[in-house]
Amino acid sequence: MNERQPIELVVALSSARKALHLYPPTHPRYSEAIDGLLEATATCLIEGPFTLNVHLGRLYHGSQVLPTDAPGLHSMAETLEAHRVESLTLHEGFNPHDAEMLIEVLGLRPSQSLEVAEQLEKRGVSTVTVSAIVDEDAQEAEERDRLRQQDRALYNRLLGVMRSLTQRIQKTGSTDVGDSAIIVESILGRLMEDSAAVLGLATMTGNTEPNLFHSINTMIYALVLGVGLGIPEEGLTTLGISALLHDVGKVAFDMTDPVEAEKARYLHPKIGAEVLSRLPEQDRTPMLVAYEHHMGRDGSGYPEREADYVTHPYSRIVAIADRYDRLTTPLPDGLGHTPDQAVMQLLRDTLTTFDQTLTRLFVKQLGVFPVGCVVRLSDQSVGIVSGMTGDSLRPRVRVMYDATGLALEPPKDVLLSDVGLEVLETVDPESLRVRISEHL
Ligand SMILES: [Fe+2]
Ligand SMILES: [Fe+2]
Repeated sequence: MNERQPIELVVALSSARKALHLYPPTHPRYSEAIDGLLEATATCLIEGPFTLNVHLGRLYHGSQVLPTDAPGLHSMAETLEAHRVESLTLHEGFNPHDAEMLIEVLGLRPSQSLEVAEQLEKRGVSTVTVSAIVDEDAQEAEERDRLRQQDRALYNRLLGVMRSLTQRIQKTGSTDVGDSAIIVESILGRLMEDSAAVLGLATMTGNTEPNLFHSINTMIYALVLGVGLGIPEEGLTTLGISALLHDVGKVAFDMTDPVEAEKARYLHPKIGAEVLSRLPEQDRTPMLVAYEHHMGRDGSGYPEREADYVTHPYSRIVAIADRYDRLTTPLPDGLGHTPDQAVMQLLRDTLTTFDQTLTRLFVKQLGVFPVGCVVRLSDQSVGIVSGMTGDSLRPRVRVMYDATGLALEPPKDVLLSDVGLEVLETVDPESLRVRISEHL
């Protein structure tokens, strides 16, 4: 085969595409174009199947690079790439029907779900085979989406477990909290695999059952801090259960009534401790945490106590986790702290209230821009922080809007250090008009 023949074949394919688009099948130009294509193909097929490869906007036949200035070659390369075709092979027996169908398929609007091979098969074309470009980004995005769905389902199951556990305590005064260990263990497993995904889960909030969400989120933050401290697994389970049940005293109140809710605010630690005191004797920690989680280091908070009262370390962890979740949960009026503002507030509070070493460690683990922060990047694109990296100033960001303000569908995950971008500023999430948790 001489060097002109592959070029002539693509030129013929390209002009057939044009002719089939412009003329009806009865028009002489239509059949001329098909004949021209079959002729060019027949010459190329003498030596066996003929393959065209596409790479970075160029067409190749074996080691021969086809010129982009021949008519239609550049647009053919673009069409094939848009359809994620890496190589296209024509086989012996290529006929007018297959030619028409190939052109029809290449004329379809490219999309993620459109597979050229599948479309050709559907049209009964057996003399054209294609191999698709393996899109690693798309594969990764698909896998991330699958895990995300799984995590969402897990969170919803945990809400269900927490709901029935709360109802059981409320109705029967039962202190069988065995189910809570299941919640802790399943979250702990995911936390070890992908802490960013779990921190993304903790941005979930609920208008109808805010306390259930708060319990689970507080547990997530407490576990993040516990893992950072190097607490062994058994201790983490106890910490998680304690965090999950820290507000259990609120079950005694109708939290929708403002007067009751205000009473609950001061009384729930005591009542929670009473409920949890009925747990088997070997596990007194949840009771202590329920009792102590509103006690400030400087003697502030409640219940009242002696000046030299020392709180359990887990109570100090849960106090920080509880505060961070309350700060970042939007209030009914839509206002709330953004994650970076909440971190600043925690650091201010720690001057008087919280354990300073623990707070610093917690802040270090969340990063300067915690998961859930909406940020504007140095190229003016806007996204949500979706993960931590070794560089706390350059997290992983799910870019939602590109530099021109265009919404990206699907959003694109970037590691700022890889793409040479910086965080310019944090942005009010309201301006994005999206629920952050739905995108993490
Ligand atoms: Fe509380
Ligand atoms: Fe709380």
